[in-house]
Amino acid sequence: MAEALFRKGRLAMPQAGGVVEDGAIAVQDGRILWAGPAADLPAEHAALPAHDLGGRLVTPGLIDCHTHLVHAGDRAREFAMRLEGASYQQIAQAGGGILSTVRATRAADEASLIAGALPRLDALLAEGVTTVEIKSGYGLEPDTELRMLRAARALASLRPVRIVTTWLAAHACPPEYQGRPDAYLDEVAIPALHHAHAEGLVDAVDGFCEGIAFSASQMARVFDAARALGLPVKLHAEQLTHQGGTALVAGYGGLSADHVEYATEDDARALAASGTVAVLLPGAFYTLRETQMPPVDAFRRHGVPMALATDCNPGTSPMTSILMAMNMGCTLFRLTPAEALAGVTCHAATALGLTDQGRIAPGMRADLAVWDARDPAELAWRIGFNPLHRRIFGGILQGET
Ligand code: NIG
Ligand code: FE
Repeated sequence: MAEALFRKGRLAMPQAGGVVEDGAIAVQDGRILWAGPAADLPAEHAALPAHDLGGRLVTPGLIDCHTHLVHAGDRAREFAMRLEGASYQQIAQAGGGILSTVRATRAADEASLIAGALPRLDALLAEGVTTVEIKSGYGLEPDTELRMLRAARALASLRPVRIVTTWLAAHACPPEYQGRPDAYLDEVAIPALHHAHAEGLVDAVDGFCEGIAFSASQMARVFDAARALGLPVKLHAEQLTHQGGTALVAGYGGLSADHVEYATEDDARALAASGTVAVLLPGAFYTLRETQMPPVDAFRRHGVPMALATDCNPGTSPMTSILMAMNMGCTLFRLTPAEALAGVTCHAATALGLTDQGRIAPGMRADLAVWDARDPAELAWRIGFNPLHRRIFGGILQGET
C-alpha cells in the first residue's frame, strides 16, 4: 500500500474558500485520502512518510482537454501563406491545411508518431499537466486513424500521464471522397469507429462541424453511431461560422462544445441545460487572428462551465503551453485568473467525463502540481515563464522535470 503525506503546501481549494495555508494532503494508492489545514490532520495520517513542500502552492494537476498531439509533418509554410493574406479556409480548399497533415500522418508508422508526439507531451508535463486528451483525425482512413490512437495510448506507458483518446475521423473529407462526405462517413468514419472501439481505443467521439468540414446533420449520424456504442460525444463547433453544432452536441448530452466563438445566447442556454462544457481554445483564435470572441458573458450568465485547452495541432494552434492557454484565455477572452485555473482543472475534468480529478479533495486522484508561486493568479499572469516545481502523479512525487 503506497501511502504518503505531503506537508507544508498552500493548497488551492476553491471549494474551501481559496488557498488553504499550511495545508497537508494524505494519499494512499494514488488517491487523496484527506486534504486540508495541517492543524486538522487526523492523527492516523500524521505518521505517514512525509514530504515537505516548503510552503509552495499546490493545485490539482493540470488537464489539457483538447489536443491533436499525435500527428506528423509541419505546417510552417501554411503559416507563412496566412501571413501573406491567405485564409485558413482558402488553404483548406486548395488541399492544404488539415489535408497536408493527413498526407504526412498517413506516411508515418506508429513509432514515428510516438517519437514526434513525445517532445510535445514533455512540454506539457513540464508545466504541471497530468492528463492529456488526444484526438485522431489526421488519417481519415481506418489504418491511420487507429494507428494515431494506438500511439496516443502508448504515450501513457512511456510517461507518467493519463491519456484520454477521442475518435475524430469526421475531421475533414479525405481527397479520395472529395465531394462525397456522406459516403466517407458511411463507408469509413462510422465503420472504422466500431473497429477502434472494439480495440479499446476510443473514450469519446468528436467531429468538425464547419462549412469546410461536416454539417450538423452529418455529425448527427456520427453521434448516433457513438450513442449506439455507449460513447460520449463532443464537437468542434461554431469556430469559424455558426453551423448549429453547439445545439446539436448539447442535444446529445455531449461532454463539450469546443471553440464556440460564433455560439449564441441560445447556444449558451442549451449548453447549460445539458451540462455540456464550453471548451475555449484561445491558441487557435490567436493563430488565425480571429476577431469574433466566444460569448463568455452569456456562458457566465447561464452557468456554462468553461474549460481552456491548448488545441495543440500543427495548423491552427501549434502551442504546447497550457500556461500560455491560461494567459491567452484571460487576455484575449477576458476570463479571470480563477476561471482560467478552473478551466484547466475541474472544468477540464468535466469536459473529459472524469469525475475523479481536477480538485484537491478526498477520493480524487492524487495528481497534483507544486509551484514556486504564492498566488494561483500567478499561473495565468506571466508570459513564457514556467513556475512549476514538481508534479505529483498518482501520489508519487516526480523527479525534476
Ligand atoms: O481544433 N478545427 C479543426 N481542427 C483543428 C485544426 C486542425 C488543423 O488545422 O490541422 C482545430 O483547430
Ligand atoms: Fe481541435
